[in-house]
Amino acid sequence: MTKLLNTLSGEIFKTPPIWLMRQAGRYLPEYREIRKDARNFVELCLTPDLATEITLQPIRRFEFDAAILFSDILMIPHALGQDVNFVKGEGPKLGILPDKLNFKLSELDPVFETVSKVRSELSQDKTLIGFAGSPWTVACYMINGSGSKDFALAKAFAYENAEKFDALMDILVESTSAYLIAQIEAGADMVQLFDSWAGLVPEPIFERAVISPTARIVKKVKAIHPNVFITGFARGAGVYLEKYWRGTGVDCMGIDETVPHFLAKGLQKMVPIQGNLDNAALLAGGQALDKAVDDILESFAGQPYIFNLGHGVIKETPPEHVAQVVQRVRGNT
Ligand code: CP3
Repeated sequence: MTKLLNTLSGEIFKTPPIWLMRQAGRYLPEYREIRKDARNFVELCLTPDLATEITLQPIRRFEFDAAILFSDILMIPHALGQDVNFVKGEGPKLGILPDKLNFKLSELDPVFETVSKVRSELSQDKTLIGFAGSPWTVACYMINGSGSKDFALAKAFAYENAEKFDALMDILVESTSAYLIAQIEAGADMVQLFDSWAGLVPEPIFERAVISPTARIVKKVKAIHPNVFITGFARGAGVYLEKYWRGTGVDCMGIDETVPHFLAKGLQKMVPIQGNLDNAALLAGGQALDKAVDDILESFAGQPYIFNLGHGVIKETPPEHVAQVVQRVRGNT
């Protein structure tokens, strides 16, 4: 077992395990070097040698306790037959939502090959985290066709076309469960569900859009792999976090930076938590960063806890700031 998996089993270490969301990516010069030669991002995610290398880059540099598979939540729409493109400087652009979605797990075989390769190259004391987007967040992009501040089109769709929306959730539950199970079978030690846009969902549809689809995925994955831990990251879910935990059955709760420590500590009495350093404090660096790290370490000591950000590393972040956090968390500075 690794430090991170032991933490999820309830063990408490002198210093917590650490990894960071988006620890692989554009803030690293070695990532940009590979990225500049890649024709497109989806293809990069489907090239096992390169995806393996990118997954391992931040481990070599910072010796994080976990590697997270280098891929993207939009690989599911890709495997469902929707066009997915990443336009430089604009983020994801998806083709129109096809009437018939036909999931081809084999489209994602290169991802599973990446998982196996990473697992064989990663040392045994480190955890390999697989992941997928949660149905609501993936549906936001599938319906809206691109990024958005409010995903109003996706929400309107959930209200107006309730039946079609629920059918889309069903398809995403099935495909995402199969995808996560295959990642586990290829060598992922645990998995995380990213519900980055959970915070946009109002009460009347929270159950249908967020809790129920996530709960069904957890149940399907656990039916086959009962001992594999699942982290749920319902970003922005705030006062719904406890309801989300109770309703979904996830083993660990990702906490974003807007969650006050007293609320996170309340949750932590029930379930291990992961988070929630502000990625803007990481960008800022210096003493402010040290203080933010210290506050978190103090708040979440004494109960199972995994150090992480509240959301992904921002691309302008100096890599030295990441090294500073790792040293601080490990008690070396
Ligand atoms: O290091 C890691 O965390 C693993 C890799 C990872 C990526 N995306 C790589 C990536 C993970 C876990 C994701 C998840 C993801 N993708 C989420 C959920 C987490 C979150 O950040 O909220 C979401 C919403 C997406 C969808 C997505 N992918 C967007 C909106 C974008 C564009 C954003 C941007 O900053 O341009 C991506 C592209 C993407 N995914 C990049 C990376 C490294 C940048 C692509 C590039 O190099 O051009």
